[in-house]
Amino acid sequence: MSAIVSEFKIRPMQGGFGAEVIGLDLSEELSRSKFERIERAWFDASFLIFRDMAMTPRQHIDFTCRFGPLHIMTPLHYNHPDHPEVMVLTNLEDAGKPLGIRRAGMGWHSDGEDKRIPNAASMLYAHVVPPEGGDTLFADMYAAYAALPEATKRLIAGRRTRFSRIDMHHVHYPHEPALTEQQKRERPDVFHPLVRTHPRTGRKSLYVGRWARDIEGMNADEGRSLIEELFTYAASGRFVYRHKWGAHDAVLWDNRCTLHCATPFDESRYTRLMHRTTLEGDIPV
Ligand code: SIN
Repeated sequence: MSAIVSEFKIRPMQGGFGAEVIGLDLSEELSRSKFERIERAWFDASFLIFRDMAMTPRQHIDFTCRFGPLHIMTPLHYNHPDHPEVMVLTNLEDAGKPLGIRRAGMGWHSDGEDKRIPNAASMLYAHVVPPEGGDTLFADMYAAYAALPEATKRLIAGRRTRFSRIDMHHVHYPHEPALTEQQKRERPDVFHPLVRTHPRTGRKSLYVGRWARDIEGMNADEGRSLIEELFTYAASGRFVYRHKWGAHDAVLWDNRCTLHCATPFDESRYTRLMHRTTLEGDIPV
């Protein structure tokens, strides 16, 4: 092994879903060879954990954009005031004004699944974490697809799901204002394949999420109950890793082959402050 590659370690987690990167400082610029090693490990593991990082928002942006162009989340007012590429997720307020989005991502989803071009990846960095609760769950959608019974694979092959922000916004964000007519026009319903092929690894994964409503070519009830069934199956313990955050952990996940889900914590007692960068993606096929 060369001196360059021995400088940090990548420890795959049990079962190969997820890996921990040990001994890498993300505040420093990465050489091309180090970056390529990280990227390969990320494609193999679907998410990477970096513990105890000291990263400024600028360094967080600089690291993430090595993987591709960054996406600026809307509405813009939840983004970092000096760095619009960084979305702030927090229950903190200043004089009654939220300093970021609250209760984001509670429900299994992949980022941007309700958009025509969903986001390829996201990197969440923990600034302040509660002593209990506020974990993030990740589900391995390659493994979920691979383990489906052959009859289910045949049933879902070639089918598309309708994802709808318009139908589901009030369900997932009851504490946020209703969508305006302009926002509805900007986020129309979209159709994505139930089984997608990762553009870089060529592997197939199951593609459902909390904005999925029904399935093209099936009546609404039938489609909805199949989505429920697939969801319950994918979120069952065997495909899931629970990340208990330590302050200054960062997790980089691939939205094309994983689902994730934020979990609650006692907001009246504790603070949670996270920064997220998000990558542009591709149309699922
Ligand atoms: C997200 O869905 O991006 C946020 C997950 C979390 O805050 O745990």
